[in-house]
Amino acid sequence: MNIIDIITKKKNKEILSKEEIEYAINEYINGNIKDYQMSSLLMAICINKMNDEEILNLTNSMLNSGEKIDLSSIPGIKVDKHSTGGIGDKTTLILVPLVASLGVKVAKMSGRGLGYTGGTIDKLESIEGFNVALDRKDFTHEVMTIGASIVSQTGNLVPADKKLYALRDVSGTVESVALIASSIMSKKLASGADKFVIDVKVGSGALMKNLKDAKELAATMIKIGKNYNKEVICFLTNMDFPLGSNIGNGLEVIEAIDVLQDNGDENLTNLIVELATYMVSIGLNISIEKARKMVLENLKNGKAYKKLVEIINYQNGNIEKIAKSINKIDIYSDNEGYINSIDALEVGKFVHELGAGRSNKDDKIDYGVGVVLNKKINDYVLKGEKLLTIYYNKIIDFEKIKSAFSISKEKKENVKLIYEIINSNKI
Ligand code: URA
Repeated sequence: MNIIDIITKKKNKEILSKEEIEYAINEYINGNIKDYQMSSLLMAICINKMNDEEILNLTNSMLNSGEKIDLSSIPGIKVDKHSTGGIGDKTTLILVPLVASLGVKVAKMSGRGLGYTGGTIDKLESIEGFNVALDRKDFTHEVMTIGASIVSQTGNLVPADKKLYALRDVSGTVESVALIASSIMSKKLASGADKFVIDVKVGSGALMKNLKDAKELAATMIKIGKNYNKEVICFLTNMDFPLGSNIGNGLEVIEAIDVLQDNGDENLTNLIVELATYMVSIGLNISIEKARKMVLENLKNGKAYKKLVEIINYQNGNIEKIAKSINKIDIYSDNEGYINSIDALEVGKFVHELGAGRSNKDDKIDYGVGVVLNKKINDYVLKGEKLLTIYYNKIIDFEKIKSAFSISKEKKENVKLIYEIINSNKI
């Protein structure tokens, strides 16, 4: 077999066999296929796509490229969640303790961010002392005794994805349903859970810019799950504007605590309640209605917050010490009217410039910086009224964040946070 023949086949819109896909993945990891050859194949896949069978074979080759975690020693159904990522997305920090407080076991492995803001692990590290690097035994022990653990991805899980993702990032080949679905699902399958809820973000601050592509990605991931006998439920949710009020690592932990204390942003709380409802429903095999009632109860009665405290204590964090810069500046509106949009991508770029994210793998994050939005979509704002507060440690052009807001005389119609919930019955 030869990589040039495989590239040529995909370039000519032909279907790659299981053996050809396996060869490309294995020989790339072994270093026998060069980056320039793999990026050529990736580009051909982006342009000419893959059919379902090719995507399954690609997922399987990636999954088999490394270690797989065995969670069978933990009794009960293990449920995992994933989000394709967006600005202000702190859902893991809230969902994990919330569903664990209802008896659903979550053994969560998360990543750091290489994007506008930090990933879940960076956010947790803004809590002083929080240990994200538990060994496998301690990780399992925490899930068995407390019901959940969140650690950084350890071991040699899907090394093919690590290498391929880094290449895709610099070769314009991230945006492909086949490549995204196989990347996400190979990692989910390797992490050992039984069932998955995946939040596919759609909009300006997301990888998927429109609903059609997002639906295709969701359907593809559900089909992959089915092939491995794993239930996958996909949410399609709005990422045209940031999720919640706080964007920036420590600030997002603070907002997560607000939601768990039943004092959170309404939109964010509504999304959390729905995601948690589906996780609890599939985790405990109960109806959606019953699960929703239990979720709402545990947000109100403090049990979800108590579970977060248990997780933080187990992992040596100090909940009293969450990074938040002491330097802050309020930004005021130049216009009066309804907030029609808050561009998620622009806000993401702004907090990145403040230091909340990385451009390179080894960059240091400033955990205490970010923004807290004072106004949301369809809120009315007066000229001179506060739009947001910026937490900073270095001076940049603070006023430019105003260009992320568009203000109009009319309210925006039909702003939805959850577009659709898709399970295997719908595809
Ligand atoms: N998230 C992933 O894990 N992989 C992708 O390809 C895109 C988003």
